[in-house]
Amino acid sequence: MKMLVTGGAGFIGGNYAHMMVHQYPEDQIVVLDALTYAGNLETLEPIMNEPNFKFVKGNICDREFVYQLFEDEKFDVVINFAAESHVDRSIENPEIFLETNIMGVQVLMDACRKYGIRRYHQVSTDEVYGDLPLDRPDLLFREDTPIHTSSPYSASKASADLLVLAYHRTYGLPVTISRCSNNYGPYHFPEKLIPLIISRALNDEPLPVYGEGANVRDWLYVTDHCSAIDLIVRKGKPGEIYNIGGHNERSNLEVVKTILKELGKPESLIHFVKDRPGHDLRYAMDPTKIETELGWKPEYSFDTGIRRTIEWYLNNKEWWTHIINGEYQNYYAEMYKDRV
Ligand code: NAD
Ligand code: DAU
Repeated sequence: MKMLVTGGAGFIGGNYAHMMVHQYPEDQIVVLDALTYAGNLETLEPIMNEPNFKFVKGNICDREFVYQLFEDEKFDVVINFAAESHVDRSIENPEIFLETNIMGVQVLMDACRKYGIRRYHQVSTDEVYGDLPLDRPDLLFREDTPIHTSSPYSASKASADLLVLAYHRTYGLPVTISRCSNNYGPYHFPEKLIPLIISRALNDEPLPVYGEGANVRDWLYVTDHCSAIDLIVRKGKPGEIYNIGGHNERSNLEVVKTILKELGKPESLIHFVKDRPGHDLRYAMDPTKIETELGWKPEYSFDTGIRRTIEWYLNNKEWWTHIINGEYQNYYAEMYKDRV
């Protein structure tokens, strides 16, 4: 099987490419990535010279280029991770989110129709369901929970989901969609909460916690997300949506305190800062469908996953110091200047 993994130089796509290259030596894995600020070839370095792996630099919005790639490579399956993925950036500049996350998806699906594929898989997010109240732990997102988005990022991802389902119904494109909760693990760009807190705590820098740190996220170790997608691509039913999550709800403050404890750093590093506009209160997934229909089970609890993650950041300082010593400095200064 030949698979196209778009956005494979990013966090989750990179972990997925590593997993596929090792798990399926008989398959061909091609990563297509535009190498935006979030794309990093150092993430792919460990697999770059594997015989079943190839990297191609390019933009999913570039129709001519994408068509040529499909014509040359004749992919069997396409797994689309490519996206602008950071909520705070979408609040500052929504436009690129609409381009990549919606128009890019259209280009990919048009290429799939033109050249033929066995499966197009869209990697979506729990954020398309909006948020849940903090005082109703009984409520969880199900696949039939209505779409109700809060940020330009989540609105762009929800738009893409609707387009993907429209291509299935109208053109019969064999699509699947997965909606996962918050991921964490190796190669996570340090603009997101967990790697930001680990890298700043290791440098004894103040840790920005939005509002009171009471917002809740449902955390999943990244390789558990990857194994779920692999199962959906191989065994999932065309036209179906699958929720992915491992029942690991934690408030942001709990997450930050856990990391500080593991690192032996003081809680005095915590700084409560101005809240994110439109900040979703709580995400919580019901993964019953993928568990019962496809037999998926996560391997890591939050306690085991966070330890593994911290260990990775301790052992791979070079990977993240290359990032935070570059353009990231300007990003951090700009993004956080009005929050203090
Ligand atoms: P990321 O920002 O780390 O990586 C995105 C990758 O896409 C980068 O390598 C970037 O260079 C590439 N890219 C961006 N625009 C592109 C374009 N126009 N053409 C080609 N490549 C482009 O993101 P991530 O956290 O790995 O998320 C991957 C996917 O999973 C996204 O679709 C996101 O919405 C979804 N998702 C993420 C999470 C999470 O917790 N991180 C949870 C659920 C779903
Ligand atoms: O739920 C899935 C989504 O998870 C994905 O679709 C997104 O691509 C991914 O970025 C993530 O979105 P979040 O907004 O939940 O992740 P983030 O790491 O940005 O923030 C997690 C929580 O931590 C959120 O409540 C905001 C808070 N936060 C974040 C940052 C960066 C802080 O308190 N301080 C911070 O500095």
